[in-house]
Amino acid sequence: MPLAIETHGLRKRFGSTDVLAGLDLAVPTGTVFALLGPNGAGKTTTINILTTLVRPESGTVRVAGFDVATAPTEVKQRIALTGQSAAVDQVLTGTENLVMMGRLSGLGRSAARDRAAELLERFELTDAARRRVATYSGGMRRRLDLALSLVVDVPILFLDEPTTGLDTRSRQELWNVIRSLRDAGTTVFLTTQYLEEADQLADRIAVLDRGRIAAEGTSDELKARIGGDVVELRDADGALLLELPTDGSIHGLRSAMDEVDRSPAAAITGAQVSIRRPSLDDVFLAITAGTAASAPELIESK
Ligand SMILES: Nc1ncnc2c1ncn2[C@@H]1O[C@H](COP(=O)(O)OP(=O)(O)OP(=O)(O)O)[C@@H](O)[C@H]1O
Ligand SMILES: [Mg+2]
Repeated sequence: MPLAIETHGLRKRFGSTDVLAGLDLAVPTGTVFALLGPNGAGKTTTINILTTLVRPESGTVRVAGFDVATAPTEVKQRIALTGQSAAVDQVLTGTENLVMMGRLSGLGRSAARDRAAELLERFELTDAARRRVATYSGGMRRRLDLALSLVVDVPILFLDEPTTGLDTRSRQELWNVIRSLRDAGTTVFLTTQYLEEADQLADRIAVLDRGRIAAEGTSDELKARIGGDVVELRDADGALLLELPTDGSIHGLRSAMDEVDRSPAAAITGAQVSIRRPSLDDVFLAITAGTAASAPELIESK
């Protein structure tokens, strides 16, 4: 499969900080790729570089087959970006914002109106279409912002934390929109702090930690990295007291159980042990703590 986005050795420094310290990414065409990382990890910086807004110190970037440094115009024609902070005009109505974007993108008057109506419907903003954006809720603005980036069909869509600030229902709706875009062949590159979002949506996930890709793969591959099951100890009300990853082997499980047995929490009345499959949360914590590969051994060696 051809690559929609490809970077090699991407470096970016702000002041004395290496925000990106050699980033290699490969995003196959027609897939959803999630760049996962905590606040300040460098997600927006990465998106800004990929979308031609910021220049890296070194490294190469190809988007839609074009070099971002030497062919930025070709790149810009093939991408759309929804940034982290809303870019909608507060004074205009929802319809006016979308029609303006359509006109700026070269659509005729009636085509721009049709497209606006279609997108307002898709993002459930039809009832608010004639209201000024200043009166919209945060979630409505976010949805309008996304609609704006879809006015023109592009092969590659960049979404910087698209669902931050959305309630559960709006988030689910947006996930469905992203899935349908992918099914129609669009490549979606998104950043997120939500493991669940990456798990639900992304074909591949890269974990960004201190300017480097700490892990990359499908959700299942990442989960497999920390090996087997997780042993949990919960109190009578179900609150988590202790959590131990294992390598899934009999020996690993037995060591984990011994450790549970030795912990003071085991003496709590009504405490219950259970075993579950690892979640992406476990993977993330293990990776960002720098213990991913050694987690099972750590338990065994105790
Ligand atoms: N223009 C800039 N000048 C100086 N430092 C910057 C600039 N842009 C970003 N940084 C720094 O680079 C680091 C990464 O920032 P970035 O915005 O890429 O993180 P992020 O992963 O998008 O975080 P968040 O989840 O909060 O949006 C931060 O420490 C930030 O302070
Ligand atoms: Mg950001």
